[in-house]
Amino acid sequence: MNEERLYKYFEKDFYIGAAVSPRVLKHKSQFVANHFNSITAENQMKFEELQPKRGEFQFDTADKMVQYARDNGLKMRGHTLVWHNQTPDWVFTNEDGSYVTRDVLLARMEAHIKEVVTRYKDDLYCWDVVNEAIDDKEGFLRQSKWLDIIGEDFIEKAFRFAHQYAPNAQLFYNDYNAVIPEKRERIYKLLKSLVDQGAPIHGMGIQGHWNIYWPNEDEIRKSIELYASLGLKIQITELDISMFEGEDKRNPGLVAPTKEMLKLQEEQYERIFKIFKEYRDVITAVTFWGVADDYSWLDYFPVFNRKNWPLIFDEKGEPKESYRKIIAIK
Ligand code: GLA
Repeated sequence: MNEERLYKYFEKDFYIGAAVSPRVLKHKSQFVANHFNSITAENQMKFEELQPKRGEFQFDTADKMVQYARDNGLKMRGHTLVWHNQTPDWVFTNEDGSYVTRDVLLARMEAHIKEVVTRYKDDLYCWDVVNEAIDDKEGFLRQSKWLDIIGEDFIEKAFRFAHQYAPNAQLFYNDYNAVIPEKRERIYKLLKSLVDQGAPIHGMGIQGHWNIYWPNEDEIRKSIELYASLGLKIQITELDISMFEGEDKRNPGLVAPTKEMLKLQEEQYERIFKIFKEYRDVITAVTFWGVADDYSWLDYFPVFNRKNWPLIFDEKGEPKESYRKIIAIK
């Protein structure tokens, strides 16, 4: 058996996690337990998965993943309670299709959070309580049904409910593009208002869906320092380094990464892990959004069927040069 274990190189720094699905666990159960000491369910703890119909909770799949984590002594992050995506319509509507009132939606939010976090309170050490609530381009909060119906305090309420039913869990706000200056300022404003109101928030999840050209060191450092200045812990929650910038349609049909791509990716991984290590006193976990390059959501998004190679293990599960670069950092 392969004795090489990725997480060992970071044991003094932070947890090293991976997002997994039941399919990945079926094929790579040993591999995951070998290299990572934390997991996140890629989709299986989202609202639509856990409560597809009102009052009908489906925990079978999530329970199995939790059991896997337990059996293998892995930490597990909870992802995610309140989000504008992957949440069923019934949550926001009456039977005639009209929107429910603020009070009804708050009651549904509380019921969902209560059921879910109570069930896993001994297993999940943290939760992404609210995901992606900040607008990318302008204004402040992203338009969503949560916001429309409840108002701006839906975020604070979610944190209070989560804390009420899982008082020991560390509670995170999680978002992407969290290192882009304009969005970073808006996220900071939100976090600061939560902290000022005494809301039970403990951390900021920087998703880390990045690429081989972006972001730069300065953007990452400034972001970590700004969020941490509020007394929050930082986790990198969904790390992958895409070979492409956004919807870049060059290289259509590429079946293997070019040498140049791989080199830029190695440099990027090395650069960012140096920073993560430097900030080990505030960073408590770094989670990859996937395990190996045979499967990544980036093969389908934002360009469908554009093969990508964003992780540090290749399609066969062999360590890439990026892996060697990051384990060599002192
Ligand atoms: C966001 C969500 C994740 C996942 C990714 C895409 O980052 O937080 O749960 O859906 O998008 O896979």
